[in-house]
Amino acid sequence: MKGLILAGGEGTRLRPITYTSAKQLVPVANKPILFYGLEAMANAGVQDVGIVIGATGDEVRAAVGTGEQWGMHVTYLPQEAPLGLAHCVLIAQDFLGDDDFVMYLGDNLLEGGLSDLVSSFAHRPAEVAATILLTKVPDPQRFGVAELDNRGEVVRLVEKPEVPPSDLALMGVYLFDKRIHGAVRAIRPSARGELEITDAIQWLVDNGERVQSLIHDGWWIDTGKLTPLLEANRLILETLDRRIDGTVDAASRIEGRVVIEQGATVTRSVVRGPAVIGAGTEVVDSYIGPFSAVAEQCRIVDSEVEHAVLLRDSQVIGIRRVIDSLIGKRSIVQKSDLLPQAVRLMLGDDSQLDLP
Ligand code: DAU
Repeated sequence: MKGLILAGGEGTRLRPITYTSAKQLVPVANKPILFYGLEAMANAGVQDVGIVIGATGDEVRAAVGTGEQWGMHVTYLPQEAPLGLAHCVLIAQDFLGDDDFVMYLGDNLLEGGLSDLVSSFAHRPAEVAATILLTKVPDPQRFGVAELDNRGEVVRLVEKPEVPPSDLALMGVYLFDKRIHGAVRAIRPSARGELEITDAIQWLVDNGERVQSLIHDGWWIDTGKLTPLLEANRLILETLDRRIDGTVDAASRIEGRVVIEQGATVTRSVVRGPAVIGAGTEVVDSYIGPFSAVAEQCRIVDSEVEHAVLLRDSQVIGIRRVIDSLIGKRSIVQKSDLLPQAVRLMLGDDSQLDLP
């Protein structure tokens, strides 16, 4: 079984962060989202993994390297433009050969890993060409949606339908055998100009192949926007074990499930978990509240931060309180005494600021 992880695409819904970074590398609980997918593959015994990359490919290559740290071998598959999920399979054909594979969207996070799925696909009846993972959602219009018969076999799939045939969304995990290659070659681009994997799976059904579905019962998050990203951060932080490797002075309090990495310093402050403070970060005279993930080399001085993700080298100084926020690398949010008292900004394109 091979793995195919999709880490191209554009990330428009996480701008301005994604102007300079791949959306799959935005950290959740201080670890790039993509790494959770790689770990899930490694834990399922998938050792030969292709990663589809786009404009942010260099950054993905630099972060993931050869895959050695997960005990796998990674092959990079450059895609000239984000032409669709089925296009990713098309360009991966030489890499995949005739092998079964698990395809995973690089910006998705799911509870429970891939091991059961991968082993159930390996033991499937021969006539099953694909297995898809579904979950009930309140807003199926935003996803690929499946209609099942009473045995749970897929009869129809539609991408982002205005009138959804069910509330079962396709999650970003698919298992295929070599029959998918004929399907991705046969289909035509959709109205949004992409080769849709939903259409390729529908093509399998229309051509008499069996497509199985499994209903996922844990959580699943498509992290492409701020609110789900913060939700993913919450869920992952809840799973961390307390570990204090940094330096905490006697005047500080560390409460609950908190990770303080090596080289971080906490001075006259309160950190209330679940929270993680990255290596080399300085927290002084501040409160770091639940569900905060502060990356490496940040400075938080005389401030309060809660339910927020701070990327590396960012600073929050003299601000009470920053909540529900995603702060990009090297950003500075600070109180100023300059007159006239006013908001002074140097904001990137597509930034959002909610001021009291
Ligand atoms: O998240 C689940 C949904 O993912 C499914 O319900 C839909 O059926 C499926 O089409 C897909 O919809 P999205 O519109 O959310 O896909 P998105 O454009 O966000 O792309 C998903 C991932 O694949 C993302 O990590 C970027 C990557 N990608 C995307 C395209 C279109 C590529 O690597 N190349 C591409 O051409």
